Amino acid sequence: MDQLVIEGGRPLRGAVRIAGAKNAVLPLMTAALLAPGRHVLRNVPQVVDVRTMSRLLQHLGVRVESVDEGRTLYLDSSLLERVEAPYDLVKTMRASVLVLGPLLARKGRAQVSLPGGCAIGARPIDQHLKGLQALGAKVELEHGYVTVKGASLKGACLRFGISTVTGTANVLMAAVFAEGRTLLENAACEPEVVELARALQQMGAHIEGEGTEVITVDGVERLKPFDWEVIPDRIETGTFLAAARMNPGEILVEKCRPADLQSVIEKLRATGLRVEENGNSLWVKGEGPIRSVDVKTGAYPGFPTDMQAQMMAVLSIGEGIGVVTETIFENRFTHVSELRRMGAHIQVEGRTAIVKGGPWLSGAPVMASDLRASACLVLAGLAAKGATTISRVYHLDRGYEAIEMKLRGLGASITRVRV
Ligand code: EPZ
Repeated sequence: MDQLVIEGGRPLRGAVRIAGAKNAVLPLMTAALLAPGRHVLRNVPQVVDVRTMSRLLQHLGVRVESVDEGRTLYLDSSLLERVEAPYDLVKTMRASVLVLGPLLARKGRAQVSLPGGCAIGARPIDQHLKGLQALGAKVELEHGYVTVKGASLKGACLRFGISTVTGTANVLMAAVFAEGRTLLENAACEPEVVELARALQQMGAHIEGEGTEVITVDGVERLKPFDWEVIPDRIETGTFLAAARMNPGEILVEKCRPADLQSVIEKLRATGLRVEENGNSLWVKGEGPIRSVDVKTGAYPGFPTDMQAQMMAVLSIGEGIGVVTETIFENRFTHVSELRRMGAHIQVEGRTAIVKGGPWLSGAPVMASDLRASACLVLAGLAAKGATTISRVYHLDRGYEAIEMKLRGLGASITRVRV
């Protein structure tokens, strides 16, 4: 198991390049199941979840070729041999559920081990299944697996009971061959869903309304392979902006897409971060005391839940009191106990955390519990007095590409040790 050892208090200066978005590349990889032939994905992030998804697609029969140090993936789904995603793969990555929709659409059948809950919540998939049933699929749940069957799906009008990112992606992919028109209401508007819709359009799908709460799909006979560049990761971008707020210095964040994280930029500007947007880069400089602000997460374009933990790290050294309200997941405060060990003053009441900022954090041995909680602890360690050792960093590796290399390139003292 690896650990990260951070010596806090170093100014951060220089440029950092943002990788492709993990939450965009995963649905795009499963979309390759929809059309035989060789699909091309570019600007692919070097993260563990991409390797896990590649293994799952290979299990299904997709030929996966990784070139250009893994930044380009060739996916050939001409010969699909299986339609089931086994437990040992799904248990390590919930996004495996994204194979349900495309396999159902292409093969008329799919079986996925039910993704259990995870550190941040129960994370059911009832909305995914409700959407597939609306298209005419039969759903069976047994022995820990969900099986969906439907040889000829019919377009339908369905409304998600809750805005769901991967639920929208799954049903959108299932609908591309469905006979007639499908209307998805209360659809997710996240940039990653928009990208999936646009790649599907490039494949020949008839989709309209992506990025709004009503997406329309008119079924077609077949699709052709895509050649798609993955958008920059808005959460990695936000994480570096938070780092710039917590440490002296200035950072040029390159190859990002500022339009995708306006809510994060606005919130960090309110804390006193200077932010200058310039096309696909952001120049940021943290100056003066950190003004405490209130943060409430929400579906896009609201403040992203995936930046909540990182924002809490910023507020823990703020000059006042910041109230953080998590509206998306029921248990996304696992980072609070670890921040407290570093001297943060945080009181949790249900889905609200009251963060009383302090003058500094003290380095300590802490444990990561999920992907974004890990990022929060890295940020806290960078700003803390003394050394911080973060264990279970495999959580971090799922969604951040070489974060310690990037931070070291900015002047941080951070090393990975194998224990
Ligand atoms: C996606 O997860 C992201 N993962 C998450 O990022 C992100 O936090 C989340 O969207 C919210 O933005 C990927 O895209 C791979 P949801 P997803 O379905 O799709 C409830 C990260 O750190 N719900 O939008 O699983 C659910 O419990 C990860 O990169 C149902 O009740 O999230 C949650 O409370 C973490 N029934 C809410 O909806 C369903 O059928 C939103 O979940 C589906 C969801």
